[in-house]
Amino acid sequence: DPADIPVITIDGPTASGKGTLTDVVAHALGYHVLDSGALYRVTGLAASRAGVSLDDGDAVAALVPTLDLRFTQGHVFLAGQEVSADLRLEATGLMASQVGAHPPVRRALHQLQLDFRRLPGLVADGRDMGTAIFPEASLKVFLTASAATRAERRYRQLISKGLSANMEGLRADLEARDARDKGRSASPLQAAADAIELDNSAQTIEESRDLVLSWWQQKRPFQ
Ligand code: DC
Repeated sequence: DPADIPVITIDGPTASGKGTLTDVVAHALGYHVLDSGALYRVTGLAASRAGVSLDDGDAVAALVPTLDLRFTQGHVFLAGQEVSADLRLEATGLMASQVGAHPPVRRALHQLQLDFRRLPGLVADGRDMGTAIFPEASLKVFLTASAATRAERRYRQLISKGLSANMEGLRADLEARDARDKGRSASPLQAAADAIELDNSAQTIEESRDLVLSWWQQKRPFQ
């Protein structure tokens, strides 16, 4: 019964470090990972490649069941072609935020996300993991960091990949994306009532990881 499989949810805004924290927590526990943002990103990318308007929620949602998707250890394949690098682009993140604002798209992606819940457990990263997809999760983390910290992290990430970046532009982009993700009526970015808030602006990844693991020691349902 999937309800017996433990889930930790990690929600938060763009570039808060959710992806990294999710990976290290999952690694420490030997759990699976759901990067739900990748589902929205690949949907946005596929829609734009197919010439479907990102403003047309029904048309984008209709595309979802036709997508030939494969996820293997952090690599994403669309119709047999690896798209992992395209998915990380800022432009793709904006597309994801656009398609994610439509309720039919969120409904179309719902079951796909539940399917990631497999033994021995799952760490799920996104905006609505704790509120809409896994409301019964036994540990919910809401990760935040200041906009300045998040812009700086994204900047360093891009520069380290040899890409050019502009700090002011990045900050403006992520604030615009946060505003849309928080302001939409369908599953907005919002901490679940029972989520623990973690501001990691002044923390290392190891500090955040160990904190989450200590919460899990107290909260996990099956000791
Ligand atoms: O986590 P991310 O940056 O990969 O997400 C990209 C966009 O996808 C984000 O700005 C909003 C959307 N998204 C969403 O609406 N719901 C999720 N659970 C995950 C992402």
